[in-house]
Amino acid sequence: MADISSHPIPRHVAIIMDGNGRWAAARKLPRAAGHREGAKSVRRVIEAAIGAGVHYLTLFAFSSENWARPAEEVSDLTFLMKHYLRSELAELHEQGVRLVVIGERERFGPALAQELEAAERKTAENDRLVLVMALSYGGRADIVRAARRAIEAGIPAVELTEKAFSHLLYTDGIPDPDLLIRTSGERRISNFLLWQLAYAEMVFTPVLWPDFGADEFAAALEDYALRERRFGARPA
Ligand code: IPE
Ligand code: IPE
Ligand code: MG
Repeated sequence: MADISSHPIPRHVAIIMDGNGRWAAARKLPRAAGHREGAKSVRRVIEAAIGAGVHYLTLFAFSSENWARPAEEVSDLTFLMKHYLRSELAELHEQGVRLVVIGERERFGPALAQELEAAERKTAENDRLVLVMALSYGGRADIVRAARRAIEAGIPAVELTEKAFSHLLYTDGIPDPDLLIRTSGERRISNFLLWQLAYAEMVFTPVLWPDFGADEFAAALEDYALRERRFGARPA
């Protein structure tokens, strides 16, 4: 294995946590069992991110398109989110994790939306890891919402710079991801952070999300460390 100790660690890692359904199908289990197992990977990866010195971790847990899944699966996923929040919040808080939720949380109903808000408030002062949970999130919806907010605020066209626009996105105050990881072998963005991923390095792994853990996370960081980031400039 290459030595990455002298290479930069990504400040912000974003993950498309995919493959729960296939993990369950391979074991002849219901899809919900795959989602439950996936929640355990979330725990492992948060710890790995803290251990590696990553400062922002964004997890795609539910997309705006996932509402098109059968009602039973949507309800299983909503239940799991609630359960996860209730069982993990104290521990996350203790670990110094600040929770930030992006996406249309109100679509999950007022009770869960309020719980998420309370969790954000409770952890607002923590600064070891910023855990960004993308819930009912869509990259296009994020951009359209920002455009609407600009119009509503009456921002003059000349003042609507890239920087000004980025402040209107859900991710205001969060630096763009340096590294995007997608599990399960799919190689697409699936309407995740379209604006924010402009210059992210991408790592696609065939490992299904429930099988993803500290070793796979470390391997992705190692891959990242070997990349040459140019941001469009010509290397000297
Ligand atoms: C990811 O696993 C979890 C969500 C999208 C909510 P999937 O449920 O998409 O699993 P596959 O892709 O069908 O295996
Ligand atoms: C992307 O996975 C969304 C999340 C992981 C939350 P999907 O499984 O929904 O994406 P597609 O349908 O394969 O593009
Ligand atoms: Mg999937």
